[in-house]
Amino acid sequence: MKKRLFSGTAPTGVLTIGNYLGALRNWAVRQEEYDSLFSIVDMHALTVPRDGRELRQRSRDFLCLYLACGLDPEKSTLFLQSGNPAHGELAWILSCHTAMGELSRMTQYKAKAQKSGANAGLFTYPVLMAADILLYGTHLVPVGDDQKQHLELARRLAVRFNKKYGELFTLPEPLIPEKTGRIMNLKDPSSKMDKSHPERETFIALTDTPGEITRKISRAKTDSRGTFDLNDRESGIGNLVRIYSALTGLGEGTVVWEYEHRGYGPFKRDLAEILCESLRPIRERYGEIRGDESYLTELLKRGEEKARRKSEPVLTRVKEAVGLGI
Ligand code: TYM
Repeated sequence: MKKRLFSGTAPTGVLTIGNYLGALRNWAVRQEEYDSLFSIVDMHALTVPRDGRELRQRSRDFLCLYLACGLDPEKSTLFLQSGNPAHGELAWILSCHTAMGELSRMTQYKAKAQKSGANAGLFTYPVLMAADILLYGTHLVPVGDDQKQHLELARRLAVRFNKKYGELFTLPEPLIPEKTGRIMNLKDPSSKMDKSHPERETFIALTDTPGEITRKISRAKTDSRGTFDLNDRESGIGNLVRIYSALTGLGEGTVVWEYEHRGYGPFKRDLAEILCESLRPIRERYGEIRGDESYLTELLKRGEEKARRKSEPVLTRVKEAVGLGI
């Protein structure tokens, strides 16, 4: 029996090079080895009010990008979170075992609540995320660095439950890329690249055209001294070198050695070209499949059925343990 893998993205904004290098690229590689579920976690998108029609379209945009990044529906389960009601059911049970303090400590909650005001959904979001993971007996969760704290909660809840009710949950392990777990904002290198940022200049979207990529990279923040100091947090050069290195497989030292005497101009020109070439197949594949609504519907239906089947054993055991049902 293959081990289980679960991961997902919330369909808000547009998928970026940060999502790709932090998560999606890793997924495609691991799907060979693991029984993998990749969800478009649309219920998570509701923590901020949005237009329903737009959300449904965006979920499909994300599905197409999953496919374009190499996720294979024959090997993996690709589905909408809302297509499997078990996520919500387990989330409720877990939330009754979660302390308020555990949730109010969450960094993402504090940051988002400050920005846009909080609702109860935003507050309990990490419990839903724990349910997403624990529902499938997941062993491995490939995510970016910003999800670390949420993963810790999922693990804590698994341990807590297992202590009280016996071995119900598998203890999930996070898989966070060492170099690309946190790709930074192109304009403000002290904050992470955010797919929902209102300014498009701050990120590279997976569907950006070569013209957009070139413009964004040429305007990306570096420093006024022209140095390649990768540890300078104020300068964006370390972030750009990490992206270069991740896409070419060259070590960061080799990249610095290649450009430190030639300067930012040639470095940025080459980086833009590397990005254009790396993203070209993704953008093209996306364009080919996005219009085929009936294929996408079929795929989501199939994914939904598979996901429901795979979650059944855990949910049944949990309900039995806590005393729900006949
Ligand atoms: P989301 O939708 O914000 O991001 C999707 C994935 O991309 C990673 N990521 C990044 N990696 C590197 N650099 C960045 N700048 C960057 N920005 C985002 C995220 O870490 C994530 O892996 N709560 C999750 C979605 C979720 C989930 C789950 C993930 C819900 N349930 C269960 C795994 C398992 C989120 O909002 O990710």
